[in-house]
Amino acid sequence: MKVLLTLSIVATIFAAAFARDLPSFLHVCKRNDPNLSNCIKKSVENFKPYLINGLPEYNIPTLEPLLLDELEAEPGNTIKLRLKNVHVYGASNFTVSRLKANTDTLRFVVELNFSSLSIESDYDIDGKVILLRIKGSGPMTGNFTNCKGLVKLQAHVVKRDDGANYVEIVNFITKISVGKGHLLLKNLFGGDPLLGEAINVAINSNFDDFIKELQPSLESAISSTFLKIANSILGQFTYEMLFPLS
Ligand SMILES: *[C@@H]1O[C@H](CO)[C@@H](O)[C@H](O)[C@H]1NC(C)=O
Ligand SMILES: *[C@@H]1O[C@H](CO)[C@@H](O)[C@H](O)[C@H]1NC(C)=O
Ligand SMILES: *[C@@H]1O[C@H](CO)[C@@H](O)[C@H](O)[C@H]1NC(C)=O
Ligand SMILES: *[C@@H]1O[C@H](CO)[C@@H](O)[C@H](O)[C@H]1NC(C)=O
Repeated sequence: MKVLLTLSIVATIFAAAFARDLPSFLHVCKRNDPNLSNCIKKSVENFKPYLINGLPEYNIPTLEPLLLDELEAEPGNTIKLRLKNVHVYGASNFTVSRLKANTDTLRFVVELNFSSLSIESDYDIDGKVILLRIKGSGPMTGNFTNCKGLVKLQAHVVKRDDGANYVEIVNFITKISVGKGHLLLKNLFGGDPLLGEAINVAINSNFDDFIKELQPSLESAISSTFLKIANSILGQFTYEMLFPLS
């Protein structure tokens, strides 16, 4: 009994400290592939179905929904808008419109198209526009079409205590653009239907400006979320497994 316990503890420690076997759903690309970008693009497309439900045993979370902690904007420095418990739906349904990969510099550029995204969150708004005090908190929903994401990432190879090389992303930059969309803030002014409706109309007729205010916060939330996810997936496999020489 004692021996078994010891063995299983040793096995657990080893499993945690060493790279694991490559799962079949990860299609790796050879370092000297003459069309490396195209190969990685195909691997990303192939990986998509696993993002719908996630694979916890490989640290892959579900993207349906994608959870973002908190977003903040201060349009015109007179209003403070805070979104919490942001649930994004449709993030796993993307197409890769462009991918540039370089295994020498470990620099990657990926452009994604999202044909339709929706969002559910809690909002809190407080501030003034001209003379009107805008105040409320409650649920917010929104639908967006034709969204694009541009991701630029820089990785490094690091040697770990086990002597093997691992890929670690050190810089992850996201740029988001939203095509069209519609937002609905419920319960503005404590539920006053006329004032609430007026503010929602005002927000949606200035949709582009409203989104622009949220953009920096959205982009940094997405970057930090995906940096963490990507590194916890990559950290399970060695550089040589992910980018074999031949
Ligand atoms: C890579 O593959 C894509 C798709 O098959 C093709 O359009 C492109 O021309 C190829 N590029 C090179 C450099 O071979
Ligand atoms: C996924 O996106 C495609 C277009 O890119 C769209 O036709 C399809 O309806 C979407 N599927 C879901 C489940 O949203
Ligand atoms: C991505 O969207 C742009 C413009 O919305 C479009 O021109 C392009 O064909 C799309 N690419 C893919 C792969 O869907
Ligand atoms: C988003 O789309 C759904 C389904 O078409 C609709 O029921 C909902 O009211 C829309 N929400 C917003 C904020 O436009």
